[in-house]
Amino acid sequence: MSIELAIPDPCLVVLIGAAGSGKSTFAARHFAPGEILSSDAFRARVGHGETDQAASRRAFGVLHLALERRLTAGRTAVVDATNVQGHARLALIRRARAAGVQAVAIVLDLPLAECLAADRARVDRHVPEAVVERQWSALQTTLDGPPLTGEGFAVVHRLTSRAAVDSVVVGRAGVGWPTLSPAAPADRRSAPRRHRRTAEDVERP
Ligand code: CTP
Ligand code: MG
Repeated sequence: MSIELAIPDPCLVVLIGAAGSGKSTFAARHFAPGEILSSDAFRARVGHGETDQAASRRAFGVLHLALERRLTAGRTAVVDATNVQGHARLALIRRARAAGVQAVAIVLDLPLAECLAADRARVDRHVPEAVVERQWSALQTTLDGPPLTGEGFAVVHRLTSRAAVDSVVVGRAGVGWPTLSPAAPADRRSAPRRHRRTAEDVERP
């Protein structure tokens, strides 16, 4: 049996999950290469390679610019990064709001053991176990908190097993989805103040 994930088109799709949860595999399966904005790919562009954590800050800067351009051009964009931290998601949602498109969250909430096993089974690279654990815990903290819709996501799809992830069919709808109104002044007032972050906490909790 398949699980149909309905998304408006255009929209911002935010993939959320620890390393090894299968975000990049999911993105490649359901979206065109030009729609996918991957933090690893941007690290490779502005740094020494996909795993160059020192390049994270610059990589996310360029990713956010590319996202802004795609969304304002009315194109769907999929952000392939862990997005387990609230500030990372907020930066994306703000851009969707500014462009007047809706944001959809797809949460790959797999058991920690499966994320670790998938990472170990990779041939190209490995994420340190402690980092995967931190990301996974940050996601659980997020999921234990207020609903993600409160952050501004129009829809949140949560997938809790590999079988569920593998059975997904993405359906795109161009009509019947009200667009978000631009951020109201009250939203701006309540937005958290910017703070200086290190490259590490851009993506690694
Ligand atoms: N994998 C799999 N079956 C799936 C999804 C993923 O076998 N349905 C495997 C992939 O082939 C890969 C590993 O699990 O070897 C991790 O998947 P990946 O998509 O790379 O995970 P990400 O969440 O993108 O990890 P990262 O944050 O480190 O990029
Ligand atoms: Mg990936």
